[in-house]
Amino acid sequence: MIDPQSNDNSGRRIFFRNCLACMGMVGSGMVAAPLASFLQRPNRLEADSTIRIPIADIKEDEAIYRDYMGAQIVILINQGKPLVLNAACTHLGCLVRWEHSSRSFICPCHGAIFDQGGKVVKGPTNQPLEIIPAEVKEGVLIIG
Ligand code: FES
Repeated sequence: MIDPQSNDNSGRRIFFRNCLACMGMVGSGMVAAPLASFLQRPNRLEADSTIRIPIADIKEDEAIYRDYMGAQIVILINQGKPLVLNAACTHLGCLVRWEHSSRSFICPCHGAIFDQGGKVVKGPTNQPLEIIPAEVKEGVLIIG
């Protein structure tokens, strides 16, 4: 029988010790799971060092976004030829969005507009989108 006046706190100590052990295990899992996930990720630079896309898969009206060497690139057909651009706005680096209806890239951050070739139509920037070197071999666009 438990005496309410007793100073024996052993049950309470065991309870708190078990609570601390559980919190420690949860905390360890919260650190270990993302760490394990990070360590198991493929090397992005290795995986993204070359991109190959059959030209037939690139539609005239479409912009294709891909990860490439740690950046977002956008691929589109411009005047019948494939063009690869860095999708980072040259103002402060926001990702530009392709607007099919106006055939231009719009920056959602401060409203810069680039034409389908990456040239500035409207500031605040005056630098065009960076062109990423690419070539076509045997009907395949090769980037990198
Ligand atoms: S980051 Fe694009 S306009 Fe500012």
